[in-house]
Amino acid sequence: MGGPSVLHGLEASIAEIGRSLYERALRANPSLFDARGLRGRLAARALSDERLRSALFHFIDTLPQLDSAAEVAGHFRAYLGNYELGGLWGRVLRLGSHPALAGAVRASVQRVAREFLVEPQPSAIRRVLRRLARLPASATFDAVGEAVLTEQEAERYLQRNLELLELLARESNEPPAISVKLSALTARFDPLDRSGSCRRAMARLNWFLTRAVELKATVTVDMEQHELKGLILDTFFEVLEAFPHAGWLPGIALQAYAPDAPAHVERVIQFARSRRRRIGVRLVKGAYWDTEVALAEQRNWPIPVFLDKAQTDQQYELLTARLFDHPDVIYPAIAGHNLRSLAHAIAAARMRGLGRDAWEVQMLLGMADPLCKAVASKGIQLRVYVPVGDLLAGIAYLIRRLMENTANNSILRQTYAERRQLVDLLAAPHPAPVEAEGRATGFRNIPLIDFSDPKSAAAFRHALDAVRSGLGRTLRMNVDGTTDRPAGHHVCTNPASRDETLGVVEMASLVHADRAVANAVGAFESWREVPAMRRAELCRRTADLMLERRERLAALEVLEVGKNWREADADVAEAVDYLRFYAQQMEALDGWRPTAGFPGERNDLRYEPRGVAAIIAPWNFPLAILTGMASAALVAGNPVILKPAEQAMLIAAELHALLLEAGVPAAVCQLLPGEGETVGRHLVEHPDVGLIAFTGSREVGLAILERAGRVVSGQRQVKRVVCEMGGKNAIIVDADADLDEAVLHTLHSAFGFQGQKCSAASRVIALKSVHDRFASRLADALDCYPYGPPEDPQYIFGPVISEQARERIERYVELGKSEGKLIYRGRVPQSGHYVAPAIFTGILPRHRLAREEIFGPVLSILCAENFSQALDMALDSEFALTGGVFSRLPEHIDLARRRFRVGNLYINRRITGALVSAQPFGGIAMSGTGVQAGGPDYLKQFLWTRVVSENTLRHGFVPPSAG
Ligand code: FDA
Repeated sequence: MGGPSVLHGLEASIAEIGRSLYERALRANPSLFDARGLRGRLAARALSDERLRSALFHFIDTLPQLDSAAEVAGHFRAYLGNYELGGLWGRVLRLGSHPALAGAVRASVQRVAREFLVEPQPSAIRRVLRRLARLPASATFDAVGEAVLTEQEAERYLQRNLELLELLARESNEPPAISVKLSALTARFDPLDRSGSCRRAMARLNWFLTRAVELKATVTVDMEQHELKGLILDTFFEVLEAFPHAGWLPGIALQAYAPDAPAHVERVIQFARSRRRRIGVRLVKGAYWDTEVALAEQRNWPIPVFLDKAQTDQQYELLTARLFDHPDVIYPAIAGHNLRSLAHAIAAARMRGLGRDAWEVQMLLGMADPLCKAVASKGIQLRVYVPVGDLLAGIAYLIRRLMENTANNSILRQTYAERRQLVDLLAAPHPAPVEAEGRATGFRNIPLIDFSDPKSAAAFRHALDAVRSGLGRTLRMNVDGTTDRPAGHHVCTNPASRDETLGVVEMASLVHADRAVANAVGAFESWREVPAMRRAELCRRTADLMLERRERLAALEVLEVGKNWREADADVAEAVDYLRFYAQQMEALDGWRPTAGFPGERNDLRYEPRGVAAIIAPWNFPLAILTGMASAALVAGNPVILKPAEQAMLIAAELHALLLEAGVPAAVCQLLPGEGETVGRHLVEHPDVGLIAFTGSREVGLAILERAGRVVSGQRQVKRVVCEMGGKNAIIVDADADLDEAVLHTLHSAFGFQGQKCSAASRVIALKSVHDRFASRLADALDCYPYGPPEDPQYIFGPVISEQARERIERYVELGKSEGKLIYRGRVPQSGHYVAPAIFTGILPRHRLAREEIFGPVLSILCAENFSQALDMALDSEFALTGGVFSRLPEHIDLARRRFRVGNLYINRRITGALVSAQPFGGIAMSGTGVQAGGPDYLKQFLWTRVVSENTLRHGFVPPSAG
C-alpha cells in the first residue's frame, strides 16, 4: 500500500482516531502520574529532577532485600537524605529516614509495585481477571522471576508457569494466554552453546507446551537482550516444528528498535506461510534500550538498536503494516502505549478491512489505564500483559517500568506529565538525518568477538580445525651465532587430553642464553636509534597481523592452555590492545622536553631505553602478558629476550614470528624457550641484562627481585625489575548486595579459567545475613556448568594446566576438609588434568586456605558480622592484587574505595577481565611493584630519564627560551 493520496488518507485517519482516543484517555491519569496521590506527587517531583529520580530508583531496587527497619532507614537516608526539599516533600523525605517508618516506606513501594505487578495468589489473579473483563480486555500472564542462575530456579519458573496455566484454565472463560522468557528455562542460556541451550530450554518447554496445546493456550515468547535474540528465535522455530498442532497459538515478540527487525518479521511470515499455520507476532518497541546502548559502548560493539527514537517509531509503523498484510498466517498484537503508534495501527487495520478478530492491541498492566479504556471503547480487541510475582522477584521488571514511564522521551511522560500538544503527540515520526560518525580519536580497546553471531562461532570452529591439522611440528632452537645442541626437548600437550601432543620444543641451554644476550647487546645501539615513531609503527603492524590471525591464535590457546573460546579471544584482544596502547604512549614520551622555563639556561629531559630486557612470562595469559611486557620493552627501545613459560611455548613462538614478520630485527627480539630454574635464572643474573619484566608466582618474583639486586662482576648498570605477582583476592558480599549479580560475578571471578588467573577470587567474605543464601546459591549455580574440553563451546570450564598443578590443588582441597566444611565439589572428566571445583565454608582468616595462593578452582567463603569486619578480613593478607565488593549502600562503597587497598578494586562487578587503559592492572604490597600494566606510568619503568642543562647566556645576551 502506498501512493500520496493513500498516505494522506492514512494520516487523516490517524489524526481522527488519535484525537478521539486522546479525548477519551484524558479523562483520567495513570495512577503513577495521578497528582492527587502522594506517590503521584513524588513521581512528578522526580520527573523534574534527574538525580532524585535516579536516587529513588536505586533505593527501590535495594528495598526488597533489606530485612530490618534499620536497614531500610539507613538506605533511605543514604539515597534520599541529601535532598533539601522544602515543604511537605522535605518532611516526607526526612521522615523516611526514621526506622519507625520503615514499614510505611516499604508499604508505599509495595503499592507502587502493585500497580504493575500482581501478587502470586489465586485470589489476586481472579481479581485482575474480573477487573479486565469489565473493560473489556483479556490478559496474558507472565510469571516474573529473579535471574535464573540454577537449574532448581529454572525448574521453579517452569512450575510457576504450569500452575498459572492450570489456574487460568479453571478461572477464565477464554483459553489461557501466557508469556514466557526462554532464558529463565535453563541456567545456561548461552548463544555460544546454541544447540545445548536450545536442548535444555526445549526439555522444559516440552512438558509445558504439551499441556498448553491440550488447553489450546496462547503462548508468546518474550524477546530479551540482543545477545540472546538469535538463540531465542532458533528455539522458537524449534518449538513450532515440535508442536505443529492446530488450535493453539504460538507467538513471538519482535522489537522494532532493532534495525534488523524487518528480517526477523520476514522470517516468521515465510515460516508461517510455508507451514500454512498461524503464528502470533507481538510487535513491541523494545524494553532494553538503555542497557543495549551502554553494553555495546562498553564492549565497543556496534549498537544493535536505533539511536533516534523517531527511527524506532517509524520502523514500528512499517512493521505494523507488514504484519497486517498477512492476516491469513500472522496474528499481530500491536503492543505499546504510544497514542500515535496505536492510532496508526487502528487506521492501518481499517484501511485493510481487518476485522476485530484479525489482530489485537496489547498493553502492560498499570502503564496506561486510561488509554486501555479508550482503546477498548473503540471496539478494538485488547489484551493486558499481567506480570505475576512478589517484589523481590519482580524488582527488575518494576524498575524497567518506572524508567520507561519517566524517561524524557517516554510517551506516557509526554502525555500525562508534560501534557504535550496533541498535534505533537500525533505527528508522524521523522527521523533526523543520520550524521556520519566522527573518527574516534584516542585509544580504544579491541572489541571481543560476539559469539552470538553464528558466523563468528563458525569461523572459530574452523580455526580450531585448522590449528589442529597443523600441529605436531618441532620448534627448532634458533639463536643466531651458535649451533649448540638443545638442552632438551619439551613435549607440549593438551591439558584437556593427556595423550594429545601438540608439538615439541627444543629447549635452550645456558650457551644459547649467553649468545642471545650477546646478540641483544650488539643490537641495542642501533635499536635505540630507531625513531620511536618507527618502533611504534612496528608494534601497530604486529597488532594488525595479530588481528588478521585472531581466531587461529585464540584457537591455539584453547588447545595449549585450556582456555574457553571467550577467554582465549579476550587474551588475544588484550595483546592487541597492549601493542597499540604502548605504541601510543611511547610516541607521547618521545623526544627532548623542557623541564622548566629558565632564562639563560636550557633544561631538557628525555626518556631513553635502559638496555637488554629479559621477558619472563607466565602461561595463564599466554599471549597478552608476554606481548604486554615485550611490547613495552621493545617500543621503548630495549632489545628483548622472550623466555615464555614451558606450558605456553607454542603461543610464544607465534608472537615471536609475528614480531619478526612485522619487521622487528631478529637480534632485537629473540625467543629463548628454556626452563625457568636454569635459563630464566641465568638471564636474571646476567651482567648484561638491564631489565627484567616478570609476571608469575610470588615465590619466583621475590627470588628474581633478590637476585637482580645482587651486583655481579662485569655488571654496568643497576637492574630494573618490573614484577607482577600473585593474589589472594577477596570479594565482600554485603547484606544488601544484589545476590543475582553477586553470585553470577563471583562464579566467573572464582572459577573462570579454573581459578588460574592472578586476579581470580579465592576468598568470599559474606555478611552473616546473606552468607548461607549466597553460599548455597553459588554452589547450585556452579553445579549447572559441566567441566570438559574447552574446544567444545558447551564447556566454559576446563582443565588446569598440568598434572603437577592438579596434584597441588587437590592437596589444598584435602587441607580444606580439615580446616572448614566442603559444601560443594563438582564432577570432572578423567581424560585430562581436571580438578573438580570446590567451595568451602567455615574457613577462618588464620586458615591456610584463607592465606595461601592456590591458583585453582577452590573458593573459601568466610563469614563476617558487619561490613567493617569484612573489610578487615579482606585486608588481612600479604597480597593486595584485586578485590571486590557487592554492596548497594553508598557509605560502604565509599569506605571500600578508601580502605580496601588493593591494586584493582571492583565494585558490583566481576574482579577479573581488566581492560588495557580503562583498568590498568597490577598489584601493590606483596603482589607487585605497584605500577600497573596498561596504565599511564607502566612504560616509564622500561626507560630512564636523562637531563641536559645548557647555559645559553653569552656576554649578557639572553636568547629567547625555546618552546
Ligand atoms: P514509547 O513510544 O514511549 O517508546 C519507548 C520506546 O522507544 C523504548 O522502550 C525504546 O524501545 C524506544 N526508544 C527510546 N529511546 C530511544 C532512542 N533514543 N532511539 C531509539 N529508540 C528509542 N519489550 C521487549 O523488549 N520484549 C518483550 O517481549 C516485550 N513484551 C511486551 C509486551 C507487551 C504487551 C507490551 C505492551 C510491551 C512489551 N515490551 C516488551 C515492552 C515494550 O518494548 C515497551 O513497553 C515499549 O518499548 C514501550 O513503547 P511505547 O510505545 O509504549 O512507548
